[in-house]
Amino acid sequence: MTVLPGDGIGPEVVGAGVSILEEVARRYSISLLLDRDDIGWAAVRRYGVPLADETLDRVKKSDAVLLGAVGGAEAESKDFAIRPEAGLLALRKGMDLYANLRPVRVLPPLLDASPLKPEIVGATDLLVVRELVGGIYFGEPRGRDRTEQGEERALNTMVYTVPQIERVVRMAFSLAMGRRKRVISVDKANVLDVSLLWREVVTRIHEEFPEVELDHQYVDNCAMQLIRAPEQFDVIVTGNLFGDILSDEAAVLAGSIGMLPSASLGTGGAMYEPVHGSAPDIAGQDKANPLATILSVAMMFRHTFGIGEAGDLIEQAVLSTLEKGVRTPDLHAEEARYVGTRAMGECVLEEIDRIRPDGR
Ligand code: IPM
Ligand code: MG
Repeated sequence: MTVLPGDGIGPEVVGAGVSILEEVARRYSISLLLDRDDIGWAAVRRYGVPLADETLDRVKKSDAVLLGAVGGAEAESKDFAIRPEAGLLALRKGMDLYANLRPVRVLPPLLDASPLKPEIVGATDLLVVRELVGGIYFGEPRGRDRTEQGEERALNTMVYTVPQIERVVRMAFSLAMGRRKRVISVDKANVLDVSLLWREVVTRIHEEFPEVELDHQYVDNCAMQLIRAPEQFDVIVTGNLFGDILSDEAAVLAGSIGMLPSASLGTGGAMYEPVHGSAPDIAGQDKANPLATILSVAMMFRHTFGIGEAGDLIEQAVLSTLEKGVRTPDLHAEEARYVGTRAMGECVLEEIDRIRPDGR
């Protein structure tokens, strides 16, 4: 296991996540070997680059990575190659983490935390499967140059190969088989060549999964449907850029982006990280919500350790903590006991103990 706390609130939320990880691993007799390293701005400070070669080598040897967040105001003015985000992208690419799973569930005690009406968000239980190592994030050519007329310009390239689409789409259909067996593929096939190919491949892979119901939506329509009628979604599969945008939007349904966990799976290991960013404005103040990281640890038990029961235990403990009215400041509530990052983590630990006093 490698822990990469990163920047901003990363070290705080990862601190809470690691204490849950250690406690639950102990209960299920998993012996953890925790290695720590830096990524993002923290790595720029230590190594001069946002992801050092030795760090990438280390994570490639690990079964799983737990990451906090990267980015922050400090780096705004820096050159693109040493921006903290470049470290995260290099890590995803280096580990070939091609499928990013972002589940969005609305926990009943947080129904009021969303700015949307409870009757709209109430039935949300969806999973965004975002392609993570291709598309416009990595396409070449990219960069800045000048036109023949001397006009300054910048360009990026949206590109997908058939195998890149096939593997993430197959993953999405397989995951749908363990859920409500419904996939909505999101593209912009009325405009983009890449999306036309995407749609063709999705339609062909669908033949391998006849039990799954498939629909296609244009990304603009999907953005609207997500907040109009979110209950229609089970699994959403989409490319890198659309998945980035839609998953932030979907976070509003869950009450706060501070609640959203993620797992990035691929050919060489897995990485678990909260969907939220480094929130430099509240960093170091013990205000950040650690639940997204704690729920990412639950995903780790499920996907890396193969112990669904341990994942359930963590999720139940999060739910009952919220049922008791405990909230971090990002979670709006009429009446609540507001706590900081550390205390929230401790409450979840207490709930784990209360739910399973026998030590399992
Ligand atoms: C995310 C983030 C990253 C992304 C940034 C930090 C590079 O927004 O994980 O969603 O765009 O993928
Ligand atoms: Mg994002």
